[in-house]
Amino acid sequence: MSAAEELARLREAASGCTRCALAAGRTQVVFGVGDPDADLMFVGEGPGRDEDLRGEPFVGRSGKLLDLLMRQEIGIERDRCYIANVVLCRPPGNRDPLPAEIDACRPYLEGQIDLVAPGVVVTLGNFATKTLLDTTEGISKLRGRVFAFRGVHLVPTYHPAAALRGGGEVVAEMRADFVRAKALLREAR
Ligand code: URA
Repeated sequence: MSAAEELARLREAASGCTRCALAAGRTQVVFGVGDPDADLMFVGEGPGRDEDLRGEPFVGRSGKLLDLLMRQEIGIERDRCYIANVVLCRPPGNRDPLPAEIDACRPYLEGQIDLVAPGVVVTLGNFATKTLLDTTEGISKLRGRVFAFRGVHLVPTYHPAAALRGGGEVVAEMRADFVRAKALLREAR
């Protein structure tokens, strides 16, 4: 079975998921999107209001910034990478996902990473970075470095929402992290 077929199966399994309490408040499960054979994968935190309504990760204001930085610093559009979240369902009122919710959703995230098998994973913000690196260290300490994760290069960076709040300096650091990811992509090819 191809990666695309296996991802479609996993998406189907996730669509009716009731593994945690977030199921009760969602409009729909927001599974990852993009190229099942992508070399580059982004991992965010969880769907917000726009994503919950549209059923696609990063389609609101944060997503517009992500698309822009991807285009300007890496030279690709979103359909050439794969974009997923730590949790598939919107936490009520956009609160932080709880540890039990992250744990319940982890098999879907790890399943997507294993099936897409990218060369480089960029984690967006604290939750994605801490979840995948299994650390309590914050993003501002972790960004600017490259980590090994399940045989993949992992590049931690800020969440685009933090860049929208934090302004120029945060955006500049995100740009530098995207350039770092691009260089690693060339190496991985
Ligand atoms: N923030 C996230 O972490 N993920 C999304 O899909 C949208 C906003």
